[in-house]
Amino acid sequence: MNLKNPFETLLEISEKINSTHEIPVLLDRIMDSAMQVMDAERGFILLKKNVNDASDYEVVTARNLSNETITQIREHSSSVVRKVLESRESLISINAQEDDRFAGSESIVIQQIHSVICTPLVLTDQLLGAIYMDRRISKEKFNEENLQFIKAFSRLAVHTIHNTQILTSLQNENKKLKQQIALQDLFPEIIGKSDPMMQVFEVVKSVAASTASVLIEGESGTGKELIAQSLHNHSDRKDNAFIPIFCGSLSENLLESELFGHKKGAFTGAAEDKPGLFEEADNGTVFLDEIGEIGINLQTKLLRVIQEGELKRVGENKMRNVNVRIISATNKDLKKEVSEGRFREDLFYRLNVINIKMPPLRIRQGDIILLAEHFLKYFSARNKKQFKGFSKEAIKYLQEYDWPGNVRELENTIERAVILSNENEIIPETFQLNLHEPKMPVGKTLKEINKFAIMQTIEMTGGNRTRAAQILDVSRRWLQYQLKEWGMVDEN
Ligand SMILES: Nc1ncnc2c1ncn2[C@@H]1O[C@H](COP(=O)(O)OP(=O)(O)OP(=O)(O)O)[C@@H](O)[C@H]1O
Ligand SMILES: [Mg+2]
Repeated sequence: MNLKNPFETLLEISEKINSTHEIPVLLDRIMDSAMQVMDAERGFILLKKNVNDASDYEVVTARNLSNETITQIREHSSSVVRKVLESRESLISINAQEDDRFAGSESIVIQQIHSVICTPLVLTDQLLGAIYMDRRISKEKFNEENLQFIKAFSRLAVHTIHNTQILTSLQNENKKLKQQIALQDLFPEIIGKSDPMMQVFEVVKSVAASTASVLIEGESGTGKELIAQSLHNHSDRKDNAFIPIFCGSLSENLLESELFGHKKGAFTGAAEDKPGLFEEADNGTVFLDEIGEIGINLQTKLLRVIQEGELKRVGENKMRNVNVRIISATNKDLKKEVSEGRFREDLFYRLNVINIKMPPLRIRQGDIILLAEHFLKYFSARNKKQFKGFSKEAIKYLQEYDWPGNVRELENTIERAVILSNENEIIPETFQLNLHEPKMPVGKTLKEINKFAIMQTIEMTGGNRTRAAQILDVSRRWLQYQLKEWGMVDEN
């Protein structure tokens, strides 16, 4: 390129590099333009990888240089690149063969470099990277004119790089937000826009319509049931039943009769024929909650329903057909249950065709305040109270707390705070109560336990009996009456 008219050259380059909004294309164009105008043999561009780490640069494009050679050039003790990055000044380096600094250098690469030009990419006071170019023995050395030109060139390039980086990050952000909004619109009842929740939404969206079994794993209170319901609501079965069955609390026999029904007289108390929940859920969805609790015998029968769509009521020989979709949930490690022989492997695979892992709240930092505000609105309306919102300290508290009970714990905390607060904003003191929950006494009479619970609640509310009555879900009159019986005079 003709350096006699540097302005025109710069203008041409500017037009060429500004006509793309793609970072890799842009960097290639900058590299090629620089190489061409400088008549360089080899070159590379370094850009800062991480804005917060001044020493973290990566090679984003290179010409006629292997990675290994670039490393040698960058890391050599008298590296021009280092100097440029430190001083933020463009510079030309002399012939390495005549330079004492390179005399002992074992690097042939370094020794063969004849002339080097390197310029920093500085945006106002921020160093973004550098452009390096060199010529080897066969060519002339870079001169002052080259240096002046590359200085102007680098200022042009750095602005274009910076603007394109901003544009790209805005475009990415915009794309992500659009996806988020689309997904959130699909699941208005489920609060969350953190990446882990977005991943859950994506899976729910793509598998809701199928009849495949879904196993939802996750800690207590992470929203497993909410997701199960939502899978059903987004399926063709939405107009048919969604029947949740808690597998954890019933004996195996009772659970069996709950699930599969029974014939009259099958056992004491079986006064008449009764269909089970699977039959009731025909053409709908059965949600087997705490599936890990189910006994081995029942597991076999369940497998049959899943594989053949067939079941027998307890005490009956007749096979009945049902068409149900099975969603199950567990907060146990079901794979471990399998490996320890407590859960049938074949059933596990049948249930686990699609797997959804609910993220715990502590890895969804960004969702905490979102959820808290959602619950604040909900419980304020329910309790006919109005709050400005959370105080700064309350927000900090909510964000720093670990939430072992996940969304359910957060929900309870906010409900309690709404009931207890009489300020116009929610302050952290109303949350603290949750942390120091008194232990229920055991080995006492029901009367004593009752008294303990009532007294603790009154203490918790700072002696406010109206609030205590609200929390205990009794009338204030009843509470007053009770206290009077214990010889306590009304104080407020
Ligand atoms: N993302 C969410 N948005 C709004 N509410 C939520 C969300 N996740 C959970 N909840 C609420 O938190 C409570 C607990 O959720 P859910 O019962 O679905 O959890 P779970 O994982 O089934 O808990 P467990 O293991 O204790 O049965 C419910 O009141 C639910 O509505
Ligand atoms: Mg649950």
